[in-house]
Amino acid sequence: MESLSRRRVLTLGAALGLTTAALEAPKPWSWSSAGSIAKADTVTDPFSVWDPVPDQVAAQLLADGKISAVNTAWQSWVNNSDPLPSGMPSYLVSYLQQVNQLPSWADSSMLAASEKLYTRLSSYLFVSESLGSGILSTVIPREARAVYWSAGGADMKARAAKTFTFGYDLHSGSAWHPTGHFIVSANKTRLVHSMVRNLLPTSTHYEATADESKPISNGDILRTFHSVATVAHNNMQKWGVKLSAAEQAADLHAWQVALHLLGVQDQFIPQSWADAQAQAQQMLWPNLASTTEGVNLAHTLLGYIEQPTLGVDTGFVSEMVRYLIGDTYSDWLKLPHDLVSRALIQAGWPLYVAFREGTSSTAPSGYSLFDSFIRGVAMLYLNNGTSATQTPITLPTANRPG
Ligand code: HEM
Repeated sequence: MESLSRRRVLTLGAALGLTTAALEAPKPWSWSSAGSIAKADTVTDPFSVWDPVPDQVAAQLLADGKISAVNTAWQSWVNNSDPLPSGMPSYLVSYLQQVNQLPSWADSSMLAASEKLYTRLSSYLFVSESLGSGILSTVIPREARAVYWSAGGADMKARAAKTFTFGYDLHSGSAWHPTGHFIVSANKTRLVHSMVRNLLPTSTHYEATADESKPISNGDILRTFHSVATVAHNNMQKWGVKLSAAEQAADLHAWQVALHLLGVQDQFIPQSWADAQAQAQQMLWPNLASTTEGVNLAHTLLGYIEQPTLGVDTGFVSEMVRYLIGDTYSDWLKLPHDLVSRALIQAGWPLYVAFREGTSSTAPSGYSLFDSFIRGVAMLYLNNGTSATQTPITLPTANRPG
């Protein structure tokens, strides 16, 4: 979209039913890589950069009809220290041998610090990242359309559970240990994205509404990173969760390595939270908009979340989303209002966090409600709400049918 003329943007926007916020002409990319971990003072548009090496591997897997064989083979490939499984084509094995490792600049003591931090923060992160960022992703037009028209869009319950496998593995207390899962999950995810880049452009539905030649550029991945990690960083500050400078740096470092493992080039990976905020200002907030696909996905996701297993009612869940992402985006998504729950959340959530953080000795009146809500969301995202094990990430073989 960044390279389109204003007229074309307006025409496309009108055709897509985008809100006026999205119809502003895109500004040329200006974030300098001086603020990246590469520290080179150049300006390259990350929306014009994809991930050619795994994209080629994915194209070959499709051409060879090997996807189900690979999905079967890599069921046993789970732990960071697991050997690459047998039963996969040699070109996939040699690609994975190169990328299934930490970058040279990864700092093991900071990664260890992130494991400790995430163990402490897990319940707040669940709420911010799963419900808040999960629904926020539905007002990111490119992501909403890509998710809706890919195979997983037809079964959002399984898709949400699979996607959350990534967050769960990153935030686990053993994420980077030999027995942790994150390096493997990130590599599987990178290949899923490559598969999507090969498949989605062949969908007539996606092509009809697309504003870019190929989905999931480095820019798109960074935008999602901000909608998850930068938003969570902001929420922790807003909610009064005390984080030392070292903890904040460890959080960012874990994400820097995660972005690298997802195929984002060093020249785009922010080196500090200040650089991340500047990047988010340019690529996230001005690009949010309502789309038909996004509204549909949000309601499908919330439909699952509102099921009685959570122990909370519909009004509470939609007001929690309003609290997390704000009324503007919630109105775009046509989320209902519930004034009683709104008052309870606005007064109770900060007190709930303060009580759990030990900065207040009084539990708020809605304490058990917030507790059961967190447990319910966690269960739902971890495995379709049915058990404690995770949903494995698999390569898609096709797009969503019509
Ligand atoms: C698949 C995570 C960015 C579109 C996945 C999966 C994970 C994941 C874990 C595999 C699970 C599944 O199949 O559902 C992430 C993370 C991102 C990111 C951590 C950035 C930090 C994006 C972006 C887009 C996107 C920017 C689109 C613009 C998709 C699609 C699938 C997918 C279409 C495949 C769903 C299917 O199987 O049909 N992603 N993603 N992702 N992702 Fe992403």
